[in-house]
Amino acid sequence: MDSKKVIIFCNKGGGNTKNLVEESIKNLKNFEIEMLPSNKTDISSYDYIGFASGIYYMDFSKDIYDHIEKLNLDGKKCFTMISSGANLSKFISYPKNAIEKKGGKFIGGFGCKGPQTFFLFKWISYLFGGATTIDKKDLEKGKEFINDLLAGKFDNNNN
Ligand SMILES: Cc1cc2nc3c(=O)[nH]c(=O)nc-3n(C[C@H](O)[C@H](O)[C@H](O)COP(=O)(O)O)c2cc1C
Repeated sequence: MDSKKVIIFCNKGGGNTKNLVEESIKNLKNFEIEMLPSNKTDISSYDYIGFASGIYYMDFSKDIYDHIEKLNLDGKKCFTMISSGANLSKFISYPKNAIEKKGGKFIGGFGCKGPQTFFLFKWISYLFGGATTIDKKDLEKGKEFINDLLAGKFDNNNN
């Protein structure tokens, strides 16, 4: 039987991260998403665990770190997905230490630009013809990242 995979994500209301994870796993079997807050801490039946968040004040949401603390990640392959205003992929490895402390292996991550979703900035951006959602091409790349992950491309990564 195929093993199960899950992406745990936080939705701070802007919707970019939710959009990214939903699109990335669309039509995939055995891939679930779990929005925080969540009481689901038994993840023993999953082999890949993803953590997805927007970047707030130069880091993942604290909700992600708090949830990692509650998990037993022994032997789990862990990855991250982010959307951030600055599109800096350096953020993808920020939870690596937290993951390793709980026994998980960090195998990589995906990052893309997430336009400001704070209502005032979103409105100004809209007025000036700017992006108000994640670019379609970035959503495609997110899907490619998940396909590569499923093909085992990152399994032996030592990030
Ligand atoms: C309060 C707040 C703080 C943010 N801080 C940063 C930051 O430090 N660096 C950055 O690149 N983007 C920052 N952003 C932009 C978000 O990371 C980006 O818009 C992201 O896509 C939001 O995801 P969400 O819609 O799932 O909440 C911030 C956005 C908000 C609302």
